[in-house]
Amino acid sequence: MTTPLLAVEDLVVEYPVPGGVFRAVDGVGFTVAPGGALAIVGESGCGKSTIARSLVRLLRPTEGRILLDGTDIASLPERRLRPLRRRVQMVFQDPYGSLDPHLTAEEIVAEPLRLAGTRSAAERGRRAAQLIDQVGLPSSALQRRPAEFSGGQRQRIGIARALASGPELLVCDEATSALDVSVQAQVLQLLRELQAEQNLAYIVISHNLGVVREISSEVVVMRGGRIVESGPTADVLAAPAQPYTRALRRAALDPATMRGRKPRALVSAIATDRDHDRDQDSHQESGAPQ
Ligand SMILES: Nc1ncnc2c1ncn2[C@@H]1O[C@H](COP(=O)(O)OP(=O)(O)OP(=O)(O)O)[C@@H](O)[C@H]1O
Ligand SMILES: [Mg+2]
Repeated sequence: MTTPLLAVEDLVVEYPVPGGVFRAVDGVGFTVAPGGALAIVGESGCGKSTIARSLVRLLRPTEGRILLDGTDIASLPERRLRPLRRRVQMVFQDPYGSLDPHLTAEEIVAEPLRLAGTRSAAERGRRAAQLIDQVGLPSSALQRRPAEFSGGQRQRIGIARALASGPELLVCDEATSALDVSVQAQVLQLLRELQAEQNLAYIVISHNLGVVREISSEVVVMRGGRIVESGPTADVLAAPAQPYTRALRRAALDPATMRGRKPRALVSAIATDRDHDRDQDSHQESGAPQ
């Protein structure tokens, strides 16, 4: 068996809230092989983004291990984390919010190169041009600023930026949900190409089971901070063992949610199904701040 690129073990993340802590992630574990594709699905507030932020260490988990090629990054101090940061990169849902509006696409993509120590501006420029080309944008994009791009183009810039440091794992948190279906398909195709060409692994967080089906080989289904079901995507989606996954799947078959409507629509559909399935499911809702 190959060593996983990423192994998450017993991950717990608690947020301080008035009067105590709120456990947003409660004992989660999964692995991602080099070049693998894992999807994390589950209703709004179940802890998906919290896991994503832990993986790139935007936050420090309360407990558990995050083994990157065997090195536990869960509690490494920043100084020792720095050389590992480039290996796991995140693509955000809202590329507009995460791209500096004052910088050109070239500067945005070149910035991680500068931080990683590429001293020569000419070299950074060359590499930025390569990355922009790789994500399917014309070279004329280099001198434009985020406001001058469409949503799909901005998402490509976000991906180019994430790729600049040469990561082995890309964490895409709802990276395509704001895009319309055809642009979404192009971005997914880009991810697949990167996987094939560079053995890039990714974790895709999505409300859209159509996306999940298309892009992942393994899936983890979460609810209330815990994993309720996991396995090969084709198996889990074809014959979900859990009522909750069945409810997710029913909601996803609704054409409205397949068109990428806001998660809310999906959530309310799940809530309805959940009442229906409640007697089969022992999970206790916690008093989660929403
Ligand atoms: N900084 C914070 N302080 C307190 N609670 C938080 C904080 N961030 C998130 N939470 C809570 O933790 C839970 C998990 O949040 P998270 O953002 O991980 O959910 P999610 O699965 O990504 O949801 P969505 O699908 O809506 O993006 C939610 O109940 C949320 O309200
Ligand atoms: Mg989220």
